This record gives sequence, C-alpha cells and structure tokens, in this order.
Amino acid sequence: MSFPIVRHRRLRQSAGIRGMVRETVLDVNDFVQPIFVAHGSGIKREINSMPGVYHFSLDTLEEEVKDIVDLGIPAVLLFGIPESKDSVGSSAYDENGIVQQATRKIKELYPDLLVVADTCLCEFTDHGHCGMVHTFERDGHVCGDVLNDESLELLVRTAVSQAQAGADIIAPSNMMDGFVHAIRTGLDEAGFSHIPIMSYSVKYASAFYGPFREAADSAPQFGDRKTYQMDPANVREALREAESDVLEGADMLMVKPAMAFLDIVRLLRDQFDLPIVAYNVSGEYSMVKAAARQGWISERAIVTEILLGMKRAGADIIITYFAKDAARWLREGK
Ligand code: PBG
Repeated sequence: MSFPIVRHRRLRQSAGIRGMVRETVLDVNDFVQPIFVAHGSGIKREINSMPGVYHFSLDTLEEEVKDIVDLGIPAVLLFGIPESKDSVGSSAYDENGIVQQATRKIKELYPDLLVVADTCLCEFTDHGHCGMVHTFERDGHVCGDVLNDESLELLVRTAVSQAQAGADIIAPSNMMDGFVHAIRTGLDEAGFSHIPIMSYSVKYASAFYGPFREAADSAPQFGDRKTYQMDPANVREALREAESDVLEGADMLMVKPAMAFLDIVRLLRDQFDLPIVAYNVSGEYSMVKAAARQGWISERAIVTEILLGMKRAGADIIITYFAKDAARWLREGK
C-alpha cells in the first residue's frame, strides 16, 4: 500500500497524537551529573570554557548536591582537583584525597544519591597521563611511555579507596589493558564484590575533552593519549574493547564521547546485553553553550534533541553536564 492510502502525517497532526506514538522519551533517571570538586574552601569558580559548570570546594558542594537531589537526578560523577600532584598520582588513592572526602560528605548528606567515582590518575599526576610513566629524552624533548601493568596496581588502589569512602559505582576511565579485571579482583578482595563497574570501555582519543582538561587541569604535559585511548576512525576495535570488558566483569559499558560516536552506541546496544552509557563530554557541552550564547541556536531544543539522539541510539544512561537543565526542562514540560 502507498499514497494516497498511506499518509504519514495522520500521526503527526496534534501534540496529543505525536505524544501517543513517540518512541523515545527522556527521563530524569537517565541522567548522571558530573561534578568537579576542588581543594580549598568557599570555592564556586566557573570553568572558563564550560559556562554554568563550576569547581566546588567541600563546603560549597552541599548546595549543588541539594539542587541535584531536589531535581530528582539519581547520580553524580565525581572528578577531583587535588591540592598537589606527583608522578604517581598519590592523591588519587589517598583516603583523604579530594574525591574520597567529597564522596564521604555526599553519602553522609544524601545516602540515596548514587556516587559514581571516575577512576583515573590524570587529574592527580604532574605529567597529566592516566597511568604511571617512564620518561626519557629524545632529541632534547621529554617523552614518556605509559606503563600498563604498573599503572593497574595504582588504579586498583584508587578504586578500593573510592569504594571505602562510600562510592556506589566505580567508573574506570584510564584505558589501560586489563583494568576491569584488575579493579574487579581488587574490589572483590577488599570486600566490595557488590560494587558495580561502569567501564569506560570505548573511549576515543578525542579533541572533545579539551574543556575538561582545562576544568581538571589534566592536559598531558608531553605527548598525547593516543597510545591508550582509541583512534576515532575505528569501529571493530570498539567491539574488541567492549568484549574484553564484558569478559573481565564490567557491569555497564560506556561510549565516550557520544555525539560523534552514536554509531558505536548503537553497535554496543545491539551486540551486548549490559546497560550502555553515553558520555556527553565537555567539548559537546561547550559547543552548544557557545552557540547558544551567540543567540545562534535554541539551547533547550538543541540539548533535548542531542540527548534524545543518544537515547535513540541505545543509551540507557547519559552522563551530561546538562543533567540539571534537562531535569528542570522535563519538570517544566509536565
Ligand atoms: C579522565 C577523564 C577524562 C574525561 C573523563 N574522564 C579526560 C581525558 O581522558 O582526557 C573527559 C570528560 C569530558 O570531556 O567531559 N581520564
């Protein structure tokens, strides 16, 4: 059958009908709000390249978390800006590290709010790489190899200390080989076999992390992350990465960034049964904010469309700096 019997516009003629046949809906339970916690006190400092996103100190964090809870957002993802950095990222696995302190504080205030801990070293190392580095000189330049197996040990310590502080979910983003296996084993041995791992399984070496690296002061001091994060050109490699993580015991699989990688979100959705997480990263946020500030696009409509796209591609969970805005819009829309 075809036109004129078939008319697609019949199901588009009113808001009521469109609502009835809508295939994808956003829900506040889909969202995770990232938060940057900085050492110090009285800090609420806007990140230059991410308008509307702030560094909070432990004391100012309370108000922000209250907002998030009041909006009904179920989870936060914590990033730390420590007081000092060193070559092995000691403050990542210090029981009084900034993320550990923030976790304890949030869980004390709001036991039901899920704290997801990003398990990586790059915010805590002076060289800005996600693992331990062997440095050497070549033609007068400092170079370095990121050491895989040696880094795993430090990442396990980080994950265990985050769980000890009360983190509900461990989200390792470091892209070392075997990190899920190592962290799973470490958590289990420390009595945290009930803590799920949200693995940054498919994490591309992306320019979309630019604003985050300003926010977390974590740009690599030499080289780049291409020896451990993935080449944006690759699809089959994403399957290999995800499959390894599934075999190693990951509970959720993440794709990051999201907007330019929705084919990967769909692929993982179709290939695996685990919950799929899309990370709407800093550069994706900043681009929308910049254009909206110029008056070139309508922020609310654009963000809604972007988040819907991620969900339509198969994401069950969306980590986004727009979580609070989106939650507010969903509430207003009702
Ligand atoms: C840590 C980490 C990064 C992001 C999340 N975890 C930075 C990176 O890999 O350089 C980026 C998040 C964003 O851009 O919003 N490894």
